[in-house]
Amino acid sequence: MTDWERLAASEQQDGKEESGRGTSRRTFLKGTALGAAGAGGLAALGVPKPARAETDDLSEGTPGWLDNADRLSERSLFRKVRRAFVLDRNTTYMNIGTTGSMPRHVLRAYRRNNRLIAENPRENLGGTSAMRARIAPQFGCNADELVISGNTTEGMCMTLNGVTLEAGDAIITTNHEHPAGRAPLALLRDRRGVAVIPVTLPVGTEQSAFDYVDLFAQAIADARARGLNPRMMAFSAPTFVTGTMLPIRLLADLAISEGIYTLVDGAHASGMFDLDFHGLGIDFFAGSGHKWQCGPGGTGVWYIRNQTDSNPLPLPAFYPTRTLVYDVFGGDVPVPDGDREPSSDYDVGLFNQSHGNPNYPANQALVDSCDFWTAIGRLRIEDHILGLSDYAKARIVDYWGLEALRCPKDDPALVSALTSFVPLNAFAPTDGTRSSEFVTRLREEYGFVVRNTSVPMPQGGPNHRPLRISTHLFHDLDDVDGVIDAAIDLSERMAVGA
Ligand SMILES: Cc1ncc(COP(=O)(O)O)c(C=O)c1O
Repeated sequence: MTDWERLAASEQQDGKEESGRGTSRRTFLKGTALGAAGAGGLAALGVPKPARAETDDLSEGTPGWLDNADRLSERSLFRKVRRAFVLDRNTTYMNIGTTGSMPRHVLRAYRRNNRLIAENPRENLGGTSAMRARIAPQFGCNADELVISGNTTEGMCMTLNGVTLEAGDAIITTNHEHPAGRAPLALLRDRRGVAVIPVTLPVGTEQSAFDYVDLFAQAIADARARGLNPRMMAFSAPTFVTGTMLPIRLLADLAISEGIYTLVDGAHASGMFDLDFHGLGIDFFAGSGHKWQCGPGGTGVWYIRNQTDSNPLPLPAFYPTRTLVYDVFGGDVPVPDGDREPSSDYDVGLFNQSHGNPNYPANQALVDSCDFWTAIGRLRIEDHILGLSDYAKARIVDYWGLEALRCPKDDPALVSALTSFVPLNAFAPTDGTRSSEFVTRLREEYGFVVRNTSVPMPQGGPNHRPLRISTHLFHDLDDVDGVIDAAIDLSERMAVGA
C-alpha cells in the first residue's frame, strides 16, 4: 500500500464500519469508479445521477422533475428552478456576487447530515475524496486536481503560498482585484520581495478581449526589461468591481507562450459559467462554492493542474501551506518538487485537501448543489443568467444611455451575469455616499437587494461607485424589469431631492 492509499484509507476509516458506505481506496484515489448511469448533463459528463433516496440518506439526489429537464422549455424549467429555492419572497435578492442561497433540497440534506454527525460523530458521509471525485468532472478536471476549499480567499492564499517565488520574480495582476488576491500578493511582495505588477484595466463598453492580451503582454515585456522574472499572471474573471469577464483562454495562451503560470480568481465564475478547467488551459483556479454555485458558506472550488495535457508547461513545484501529509507518512510521499508526472502517482488535490477534520455536511451540500447545476445543465444556466444580464443592460442603456454602464455590453467574451452601472441622474459617478444611499433605499423602499462597488478608473482620479446587480438562475425577466423600474423611480426621486 502506498502512502497515498494509506492516507485515503485513514480518511475513510472513521464512520466506514458504522455507515457501511465505504468505497474502495482506489476509487477515492482515482475517482474513476463512479458509475456511468444518469440523465441529462450529469450523464453527459459521466457523473452518475444520484438516486433519489430515503430520508435518512446523505443526499436527496436531484429533484424528480429534472428527469425530463431536456424536454422542458426554458420558461418552465426556470420556473421550476425558482421554486427550488427558499429565498425570502418579500425581497428580490440580487447580490449573489456576495453570496448565494442553497436550494431547498440541498438545505434539507445539509440539516440532516449535520444531525447525523451529531448523533454519530465518526460519520464521514463517504469522505471528501469521493466528493472531490464527484464534482471534478463537472468542472472539467481530474479528481486529483480538485480541492474542496473553504472559499475563494483560501484558494488564492494557498496557491500564492504554494508556488515557490522569490525576490526578482514578478506576478502580473490587475488593478481590479479583490482583497482575496491583493492581500496574499502584498504579502509575497513584502515578505519575499516578489514584484507585483498591476495592469490598468479598461472600464465600460469600449473594449475588446484582445485589449487584455495586449495589456498583459506589455506588462510581461516591461517586467523583463526591468530585469524581473515574470512567473505568474493572477487575475479575476469576472472582476468583482465591474463584472467584466476576462478572456481566460486567450490569457492562458499568452501565459503558456511566455512560459509563465496562471491563477484565476474565479469567485464569480464557479456556478455562473459552464467551466472546463482543462479546456481553459490554466494552472490554478480559486473559486467560491457559496456564491453563484449556491453551496453553503465555507465552501470553495480550488483547481491545481496536475497533468501536462491541458497545458504543456512543466508543473510548478507546489508546497501545501496547510496540510497533514507532508512528512507524517515518511518515505514514499511524493515531494512536491515540480516533477509531478505521472500525475496518477501523485494526488496534489488530496495533499492539499487533508488538513484536519473537515466539515463533511458542508462539503456534501456543495456536491449536492453542483449535482443540481449539472442536472439542470450548466450551459443552460449560463445562457439563462447571461440573457437576464443582457436584458438588464439593454434597459439601462435605454434609460440612462451607454455611458451609464461600467461593464461591457455586447462582446460575448467579456460579459458576465454581473451588471454594473451608475444611474447618472441620481448621483455623480464618484459619489460614494449617494451610491450607498441608493443601495439602501432600493432595498428598504423597493425590496431589491443589490450592492455598489468602487472602481479604479483607467484615467485615474477618484474611483467610480456603480451599482452592481446579479442575475441568477432563480430570477426571470420580471425580476429584471422590477429592479430597473425601481432604480428608475428612485433615481428620479433622488434627482429632485426626494
Ligand atoms: C473577485 C472576488 N474574489 C474573491 C472573493 C472572496 O470570496 P470568498 O468569500 O469565496 O473568499 C470575492 C468576494 O466577493 C470576489 O468578488
